[in-house]
Amino acid sequence: MANVTTNPATTATGKLAGKTVLVTGAAKRLGRAIALAAAREGADVAITFHHSAKDAQHTVVDIAGCGVRAVALKCDVTDEKSVKAMVKEAVRELGGIDVLVNNAANYETVEFEHITVKQWDAIFASNTRGPFLVSRAALKQLRLRGGKIINLGSLGGLRPWATHAHYCSSKAALHMLTRVMAKALAPQIAVNAVAPGMIDLAEPSAAAFMRQMAKQTPMRRNGTGEEIAAAVMFFATAPHFITGQVLTVDGGLGL
Ligand SMILES: NC(=O)c1ccc[n+]([C@@H]2O[C@H](COP(=O)([O-])OP(=O)(O)OC[C@H]3O[C@@H](n4cnc5c(N)ncnc54)[C@H](OP(=O)(O)O)[C@@H]3O)[C@@H](O)[C@H]2O)c1
Repeated sequence: MANVTTNPATTATGKLAGKTVLVTGAAKRLGRAIALAAAREGADVAITFHHSAKDAQHTVVDIAGCGVRAVALKCDVTDEKSVKAMVKEAVRELGGIDVLVNNAANYETVEFEHITVKQWDAIFASNTRGPFLVSRAALKQLRLRGGKIINLGSLGGLRPWATHAHYCSSKAALHMLTRVMAKALAPQIAVNAVAPGMIDLAEPSAAAFMRQMAKQTPMRRNGTGEEIAAAVMFFATAPHFITGQVLTVDGGLGL
């Protein structure tokens, strides 16, 4: 496992000071924004990456810049063995897990009649089985600390997108998994989901699509990574009594 661990020079303060947050798939994009938001709230942070080792190293350095401990762990969330080893390593490095954020996922646009069995299974493996495997592997640690699980769902799990049958179905399943786990893992663990709508991550190839989506959105713009991270931080710091909820963060697009 390619780990980068850094130790803080100062003692962190913030709503998550003294807590440990594990964010999957957080080398870049929304996962990185979530990991940095947790670090700014004073949490020690473990991130996982699959292929983006270099980005993960940069992110870990930036997390450590917030004065908290940071570690990057390689993990394939579809693989039970890899997940178990990653959770063990995260606990060894940071001492436990208070908040698990299941962020790693895949997204793909395919006409319904062209979705192959391989594509269908791959999307479900990362988007639905992944959060199940990581949550199950982290249960003991989360129970010990009265922890929280936050899943990254999607507006696509609530609204049907014609060219994303496998993605939408995988996220709808994740929303249900959120509610099932909230019931099954209570009272020790609170489980919620954040369902982003259109988030603008400044990708040049998506610029025209983003402009079009902004026009259709009641708030007249797309969301930012920081806004999704803020919703995740809400659940991470919310009363334990808030559980089983799917919070849509979409500027009203799904209304
Ligand atoms: N961006 C949006 O507008 C939007 C909208 C709705 C919902 N969401 C949800 O919000 C979350 C974050 O969105 P995003 O766009 O930032 O995600 P993303 O870039 O599509 O994926 C995040 C990370 O997931 C990791 N990943 C994929 N398959 C993996 C596997 N088998 N094992 C381990 N890691 C794996 C990748 O890590 P490596 O790069 O290291 O390989 C990737 O960097 C996702 O759950 C997504 O579905 C996003």
